[in-house]
Amino acid sequence: MMTVDEILDKPKLSREDIIRLLSISDDKEQKALIRKAYAVKIKTVGQKVYLRGLIEFSNLCRKNCFYCGIRSENHKINRYSLSEDEIYRITTYAIQHHFTGIVLQSGEQNSPAFAKQITSLITHIKKMTNPSLRITMSVGEQSYETYQEWFDSGVERYLLRIETSNENLYNKIHPDNAVHSFQNRLQCLENLQKIGFQTGTGIMIGLPFQTINDLADDLLFFKNRNIDMIGMGPYLVHSDTPFARFSASLLPPEERFQLSLRMIALLRILMPDINIVATTALQTINPAGRASGLLAGANVLMLNLTPITYHDNYLLYDNKPGSKEEELPDEFDRKLQQIGEKIVYNDYGDSIHFTKRNSHG
Ligand code: 5AD
Ligand code: SF4
Repeated sequence: MMTVDEILDKPKLSREDIIRLLSISDDKEQKALIRKAYAVKIKTVGQKVYLRGLIEFSNLCRKNCFYCGIRSENHKINRYSLSEDEIYRITTYAIQHHFTGIVLQSGEQNSPAFAKQITSLITHIKKMTNPSLRITMSVGEQSYETYQEWFDSGVERYLLRIETSNENLYNKIHPDNAVHSFQNRLQCLENLQKIGFQTGTGIMIGLPFQTINDLADDLLFFKNRNIDMIGMGPYLVHSDTPFARFSASLLPPEERFQLSLRMIALLRILMPDINIVATTALQTINPAGRASGLLAGANVLMLNLTPITYHDNYLLYDNKPGSKEEELPDEFDRKLQQIGEKIVYNDYGDSIHFTKRNSHG
C-alpha cells in the first residue's frame, strides 16, 4: 500500500486516493497533508487573505431544512429583516474599513417583491463607491430571470451551497416536497454559471448518514462542475431542529473539525486556483478554527457585520460565534500576521479560477 507521502507526490489523485487521505487518523499524516496543501496555496493564491463583510439581512425563510436553526418551523426565533437604510449603514462601515466586497445573505424568500427589493438595494450599493464594492448574494434558489436581473444590476458573485452532492443524502436531510428539490438546486447552480456569476457552492461535513465516500464525491463534484469558490464547514447541531436527535451518532466535534481541515486541504490540492472560505462553523468547534482553515488552504474570511441585536435570531447552529463580540478587521490582521498571512485590501480577490475561465473564452 502507498504511504500518504507517496500519494501526495502523485500528479493526479484518484477517487481512492482522496478517500484514503480523507480517512487519515494519524497526526503525522494529517500534518503532511496540510503541509502539502499550504505549499500549493503559497504557489497559487499566495499567503493572502481576502475579507468580505457578511450582512445577514433577514432570517425569513420558506424552507424547512432539517439541520438549520432558522428553518421555517422554528417558531422560537424572532423573524427580522433589516431596512434598506440599515443595510446602507453597514455597507458604509464596510467601506470605511476598506472591505472590497460584501456578502448579502438571508433565508430563502422568493416573492416578486423580494426580487425587486434586492435589485434596488444592489443598484444603490453599486453607486456608493467608485470603484464599486463587489457584491455576493446568498439568498437561495431563485428563477433564472431573477438571477439575470440581479447580475445585470451589478452582482458579481453568488453562493448556493449544494449541501451534499449525493441526491439520496440530500433527500434525507431535507423534507420531501417540491420546495426542497435536489434537481432544482443543481439547475440553479448551472443557471448561475451560465449567466456569468463567480459561482460558489459548498457542503456540510459530518452530517448524519454522510460517509467519507460522499465527501470524496463532493470534492469531485466541485471539480467537475468548475466551481469558482467554496465554503464548507462542519455540520453543527442546532437543538431546536429535527436533526438534534442524531447528536449522539455524529463524529465527535474534534474529529469533525480535523475532517473539515482535510476536506479544505484536499480541495486546495485538487483546485489550486479557487477561493476557499475559512468558515465560521470551523471557528465554532475550535477557537483557532478559521486560522487553521487558512493554514489548510483557505484564503477568504467573511467577517460578520450584522448588528449584534440580530445575532441571536440568525443562529443556524448552536454556539455560533460573533454573538457577543463585534468582528474587527484590525484585530484579525494582527492575529493573521502571526501565522504569516496578510489581509489584502487593494484587490478584489476575485477567484483566479473564474478570471482564467473567462479569459480563455
Ligand atoms: N451546521 C452547519 N452549517 C449549517 N448551515 C445551515 N445549518 C447548519 C448547521 N446546523 C449552512 C448551510 C447553509 C449555510 C447558509 O449554512 O450549508 O447553506
Ligand atoms: Fe433556510 Fe438555508 Fe436554513 Fe435551509 S439552510 S432553512 S434554506 S436558511
